Amino acid sequence: MMSDQANSLRSQMHHSTKGSPTAKTIAFISGKGGVGKSNIAINFAISLSKKKYNVLMIDLDVGMGNIDILLGVQAKHTIVDVLEKKLSLMNIVETGPENISYIAGGSSFTNLFTLNHQHMHYFLSEFDILVQKYDYILFDMGAGITKESLFFILSSDEAILVTTPEPTSIMDGYSMIKHLTQEAPNMPIHVVMNRSLSFKGGTKALRQFERVVQSFLKRPINKLAIIPDDKSVREAVMKQQPFALCNNSSPATKAIENMTDAYETGKNIVTYKTPLSFIHKMKQLWRGRSN
Ligand SMILES: Nc1ncnc2c1ncn2[C@@H]1O[C@H](COP(=O)(O)OP(=O)(O)OP(=O)(O)O)[C@@H](O)[C@H]1O
Ligand SMILES: [Mg+2]
Repeated sequence: MMSDQANSLRSQMHHSTKGSPTAKTIAFISGKGGVGKSNIAINFAISLSKKKYNVLMIDLDVGMGNIDILLGVQAKHTIVDVLEKKLSLMNIVETGPENISYIAGGSSFTNLFTLNHQHMHYFLSEFDILVQKYDYILFDMGAGITKESLFFILSSDEAILVTTPEPTSIMDGYSMIKHLTQEAPNMPIHVVMNRSLSFKGGTKALRQFERVVQSFLKRPINKLAIIPDDKSVREAVMKQQPFALCNNSSPATKAIENMTDAYETGKNIVTYKTPLSFIHKMKQLWRGRSN
């Protein structure tokens, strides 16, 4: 079928355009909690997987992670078990709907910084296997920034900031970008305006947000998507299924598909060529902490 050929070509192109077959790492972040990060991340993952990309989701909302509830998959082990029990990361990967892979974060990441050299080396070599295996690794972060979450956000290739048009959510999203800009001025940040009551309103809110970020922080953002407020999202959450699989034609599903297309084609994206890999950046940050 044509679409299968296109999918396979797309998958090959993804690898060849990157030069080396390593995963693109993306952190899903927000200033305020409850704005829809986990739902957007999961359904973006589903949508990428439908395009035949190999996708891994890692829940890093420490202590509050709920991706397994949203996916209807019960994880037997967490990343913390990898650190404490020396399990292999590949062995704790669960398979979710649409064949996406999933790793649970666990309840405490603070011990990441107290790892000795040998343990950190093990952890990074385990991560390196994942980076080689997948096309995309998506981190679902908790709201705001902690020392631990910053470690993963700053190591990622890009961030997708989720906000809603509410002033409180916009303000907290702005603060988040300000903080990130101080730490990593060149990190590409995409913005998703979730729960928009109309496309027009969402577009306006996204443009205003871009203007404010540009004039005060002097940095570009990529206006990635407008996702409508849609009752099918709440219905899907109640069913513990990703909304993109519950209803093919709902406004939210269409919007996620548009978001994935826009992301894939990279329209309007200001890309920064960052020479450092995820593993390299993690290593650097960890060394910086232990000094
Ligand atoms: N587009 C949408 N339309 C309607 N309801 C939505 C939409 N997006 C999110 N919601 C509602 O918001 C709730 C919270 O979403 P989600 O758990 O994805 O947020 P979060 O940002 O990950 O929260 P946390 O910061 O606690 O991790 C969902 O359970 C759903 O009821
Ligand atoms: Mg969440």
